[in-house]
Amino acid sequence: MNSSNEADKRSAALRAVEHVQSGMVLGLGSGSTARHATEAIGWRLREGSLTRITAVPTSNDTAALAQGLGIPLIDLSADGVDLAIDGMDEVTPYLDAIKGLGGALAREKIVATGAKTFILVGDGRKRVERLGERSPVPVEVLPFGWRRTLRLLEELGTHPELRSLDGSPVRTDNGNLIIDCRISVEIDPEEFALGLSRQPGVVEHGLFLGLADLAYVAEQGEISLLRREA
Ligand code: A5P
Repeated sequence: MNSSNEADKRSAALRAVEHVQSGMVLGLGSGSTARHATEAIGWRLREGSLTRITAVPTSNDTAALAQGLGIPLIDLSADGVDLAIDGMDEVTPYLDAIKGLGGALAREKIVATGAKTFILVGDGRKRVERLGERSPVPVEVLPFGWRRTLRLLEELGTHPELRSLDGSPVRTDNGNLIIDCRISVEIDPEEFALGLSRQPGVVEHGLFLGLADLAYVAEQGEISLLRREA
């Protein structure tokens, strides 16, 4: 990661944090870009420009970070959150996204779908015309029968691969496995998402379609705002 990418991640995240108001219930995303947002929220709480914030973390890592920063954490209530801010692995001009290279996609999607406003943040490398151009679609699956699930994902027309690190399968915070599915850009993401949801063993997938309201994307110091048409 070069320093200009890191600076872009930070400036996109800081823009999103400008939407945070005192008294809000927040969803705190996961990954290196969302980290900048969580740190900025912690800093604003400490300096007193934000008060009465509570937050739902989308991963154990984010929970540890937020706790260290003194951000009061709560369980997700039935009412969801006022505002969720999270990173993305790919985003289209229509604000469809792939998320989950960090493995937190299930909790991220639960929080994002329960948010009154959901803002994506990232650097310019995340912009694509079609989902799947660069990133695989991460799919969280139950460990039970994962080989069978992988075969079913293959039959959907993807190139699935069990995510592993140093020879061992990666486990999510929920104790599940991740299968990364390379898709060709000819695959229709809506249809693919439906297909994924129908497979037994699939817990959640990283296609975030029609969920984000706004995205801040920073490239070489310039920040663009993408908006979803109502
Ligand atoms: C975590 O599971 C992901 O959804 C991240 O939000 C996504 O991978 C972006 O991560 P970075 O901000 O680290 O690129």
